[in-house]
Amino acid sequence: MVKMRTFETEQLATVYVAAIIEGLISAVEHPVLGLATGSTPVQLYRQLVAFHHQGLQFSHVTTVNLDEYVGLSADHPQSYRRFMHDHFFGHIDISPNQTFVPNGQASDLAAECARYDKILEVHPIDLQILGIGHNGHIGFNEPDQALQTKTHVVRLAEDTIVANTRFFARPEDVPTEAITMGIQSILQAKSIILMAFGRDKAAAVRQALSGEVSTSMPASFLQMHPQVTFVLDAEAAVEVNQRVNDLNPIYGTANPFWAPLSRSSE
Ligand code: PGA
Repeated sequence: MVKMRTFETEQLATVYVAAIIEGLISAVEHPVLGLATGSTPVQLYRQLVAFHHQGLQFSHVTTVNLDEYVGLSADHPQSYRRFMHDHFFGHIDISPNQTFVPNGQASDLAAECARYDKILEVHPIDLQILGIGHNGHIGFNEPDQALQTKTHVVRLAEDTIVANTRFFARPEDVPTEAITMGIQSILQAKSIILMAFGRDKAAAVRQALSGEVSTSMPASFLQMHPQVTFVLDAEAAVEVNQRVNDLNPIYGTANPFWAPLSRSSE
């Protein structure tokens, strides 16, 4: 069942998620965080870096990122490896060999996908952080007639390529392919938080929660996960109807939001 927490502002929502991450990594011996890129988690990483400056340690944490562009080197300004370094890893006490991001420059992409699935097997994710695309994609699992379960190479949807042009100097520089964790790999996380902020995400949020599960709205598959929470600002929540709220009581005292996680080492 999807739970929802809605906050007046993105900043409040972000502090909430950062506090959950602090709780998790303080309670679990070898926590594994599934991480996302894009504009949505930028404030989250800033908040976690602030927590680190106040003493929060990450040296025992392993991270596994959702996706990476094909063809970009790790230090390309728009690669997701570089994004993670610039926004998060470069500011905390995590060693690079505990941070996993697909290698978008692998000469054998199929082998790289298999390698990544092995990493996911060895490091099962305790908490997966997700954003949501305007078209409902999670990771780079784009709307399609069928979705892939495991890590795979994907041709990006036209609207995703268009949305990404803002990050590249020339349209022809925008990558058209990516490596992404599959839907099943995402759903295997013990718990999931999808964050969405802004009015332009409201339709995707509504469709993801509508009660129908469809490959044309990949985020709708999250409804089948036992521990998933949508953390929204007021604008992203604006189209979610009362019925969803009724079905998913958020503040009910009998429904503690955060069930204790088992230790990942068990
Ligand atoms: P955004 O992207 O955070 O940049 O809006 C989210 C996504 O496409 O998953």
